[in-house]
Amino acid sequence: MRIDILTIFPEMFDGPFSHSIIKRAKEKGLVEIHLHDIRDYSTNKHKRVDDYPFGGGAGMVMMIEPIADCIDKLKAEREYDEVIFLTPDGELLDQPCANKLSLLNNVIMLCGHYKGIDERLRQHYITKEISIGDYVLSGGELAAAVLCDSMIRIIPGVIGDETSALSDSFQDGLISPPVYTRPADYKGWKVPDVLLSGHEKNIDEWRHEQAVKRTKERRPGMV
Ligand code: ADE
Repeated sequence: MRIDILTIFPEMFDGPFSHSIIKRAKEKGLVEIHLHDIRDYSTNKHKRVDDYPFGGGAGMVMMIEPIADCIDKLKAEREYDEVIFLTPDGELLDQPCANKLSLLNNVIMLCGHYKGIDERLRQHYITKEISIGDYVLSGGELAAAVLCDSMIRIIPGVIGDETSALSDSFQDGLISPPVYTRPADYKGWKVPDVLLSGHEKNIDEWRHEQAVKRTKERRPGMV
């Protein structure tokens, strides 16, 4: 998978993309992430990428030209499956959405700022709008990093133990059951006996019951 991210703050991705699973996915050649500084496409001598809104009002709007020029250049080099705009009024990201996006080959992600982006970009360039939750962030960068993580970790081969990503919460429509590790008794707080029993069928049943119980308690709409 190739992901091209358009942003005015490329440095914001240094941390999230240089550790853990995303780092490993890049090293294994399973994902390529390219960051593009929108300011590099500004023709303005001060490298401006925003302007006042027509009709007045507070806040600035991200201009068409630098973003359109960057997307046009990328599209001339290869075909893209989606051009995604991260925005709080987009489709809410959930596991089925991440699963679908993880199958794509080439994706552009656009991170917005200020009051938003010129509507004509949304009409003519953006093919999908995604929100990571019903709250407003200062910009799309953290949302893009979250979206990338959710897509990349489930690409086959990224996580060593193939079953691990599939047993995540939400993958089977249930929240994951509780997990424990050594010691079996910490100051009198004991690990459930069934997990120490070695009886695989009973353990599977217990885990399923716990997953259903948790889902009913925490996400009653899911079951
Ligand atoms: N940009 C600002 N807030 C956002 C959100 N909740 N999801 C996606 N992009 C955003």
